[in-house]
Amino acid sequence: MSGNKIDMQYTPPTSDTIQTKPFPIRGERANFVNKPHVIAMVGLPARGKTYISKKLCRYLNWIGINTKVFNLGEYRRHATTAYQCHDFFRPDNIKAMAIRTQCAQDALNDVCQWLESGDGEVAVFDATNSTVERRELIREFVVQKMGFKLFFVESVCNDPEIVEQNIMEVKVSSPDYANMNKEEVLADFMQRIEHYQEKYQPLDEIHESDLSFMKIYNTGEKVLVHKHEGHIQSRIVYYLMNIHIVPRTIYLTRHGESVMNLDSRIGGDSDLSDRGRLYAKALSDYIVEQDIQGLRVWTSWLKRTIQTATDVKAPQERWKALNEIDAGICEEMTYEEIEEKYPGDFAARDQNKFSYRYPRGESYEDLVARLEPVIMELERQGNVLVVSHQAVLRCLLAYFLDKSAGFTDPIAEENRENGKHFYENRSDLGIEKKDELPYLQVPLHTIIKLTPVAYGCKVENIRLPIEAVDTHRPKPKIPGYLEERFKRKGKNLHT
Ligand code: SIN
Repeated sequence: MSGNKIDMQYTPPTSDTIQTKPFPIRGERANFVNKPHVIAMVGLPARGKTYISKKLCRYLNWIGINTKVFNLGEYRRHATTAYQCHDFFRPDNIKAMAIRTQCAQDALNDVCQWLESGDGEVAVFDATNSTVERRELIREFVVQKMGFKLFFVESVCNDPEIVEQNIMEVKVSSPDYANMNKEEVLADFMQRIEHYQEKYQPLDEIHESDLSFMKIYNTGEKVLVHKHEGHIQSRIVYYLMNIHIVPRTIYLTRHGESVMNLDSRIGGDSDLSDRGRLYAKALSDYIVEQDIQGLRVWTSWLKRTIQTATDVKAPQERWKALNEIDAGICEEMTYEEIEEKYPGDFAARDQNKFSYRYPRGESYEDLVARLEPVIMELERQGNVLVVSHQAVLRCLLAYFLDKSAGFTDPIAEENRENGKHFYENRSDLGIEKKDELPYLQVPLHTIIKLTPVAYGCKVENIRLPIEAVDTHRPKPKIPGYLEERFKRKGKNLHT
């Protein structure tokens, strides 16, 4: 290097020297929301409103719509001292009612401020919103004053068993009940429900004929949709029609080690290696041991997943959508070869792995779009074993574990720079948690067991004792450079 002149031969690329598309420009992702939306929940306590809110939020974020839940219970806890008992919720408790109304107003202010700031696209207002009066107040504020779209989602449940199960699963661990045993919680919560019941007015097509809403009866037994407007609301209706709460387990695994894994080549359609075949056998033994009721097995169309699942005794389906990311012109190359032949592309991918698209191939973002029908069908199913590939499983895992895709919103960034912060903890927004998805660990010869619990998923990694190459390439310190660790050990570098 001499003077100010940069000698490219010796200078590693930086974000200034790599010509990568600044991605995404707001609205560039496929699911851009034109007008901010408020999704307001409706229903008595313990009807799964928080479950629906959190799950919907996770799904919308996964498909690229920046979504956040605003839970009214949290505002109420913030505004009051420790919860005493159900009396707080009596309709004739004037003092408490004033606090509750103020909390609802504060939450709505935050909802609208978030949407207005440009950060958010969909806000889910998780509250009972159980009277016509409260819903009218929301409509006036959200639609008339702010000009946003509003969609109500009511959960109606008349099955006492489901209600009790909900209380026992989630309410006993609520901060409201830190010092009570399960029986006391159940008794108090049932009385809380009764107080709401006194004033509860379900959404009504005749008396609230102008509102857009859906009603979900008994966790999906029946669904009613009224005057839904536009693409986002259709997506929400479709998604909520597909989810269920029947306990089940999803098992994810990559194919056994392949011949191309041994050669450090990406993509292709090779057979299993000897160790890969041992894994296929071990996997089928594991599945027999688990004795999983009604298990179904899904593989991609590629030989290595079909060979891995071949001995698993369960009905099998092949999904082309589960095929590995298409590496386009880089298919069947090693990372060393790509680095040498296409250094610009190699560096660009490290700059923004989620949005980088292989020439004549796919990006992680493309993969998420391709996998949406898989997620929708997985939501409908019971126990499923998915045998697929590293990049594909990263996308599926990100959905179940609520991992961020790695996009930044320039408007949010600008707001941040201008000091427009109104959240105590902005990492809650997901927007700060960049780049998780394309770097998730999905090792070979490991079963990832996902069990739905309360509002999320329990994850267990079950490593079967058969050696395999390590294919995880962490985010490199210098974009476009192979880490020495990989070069030295001749490890298999992967998509
Ligand atoms: C709560 O305070 O826990 C919920 C308030 C509501 O949504 O009615």
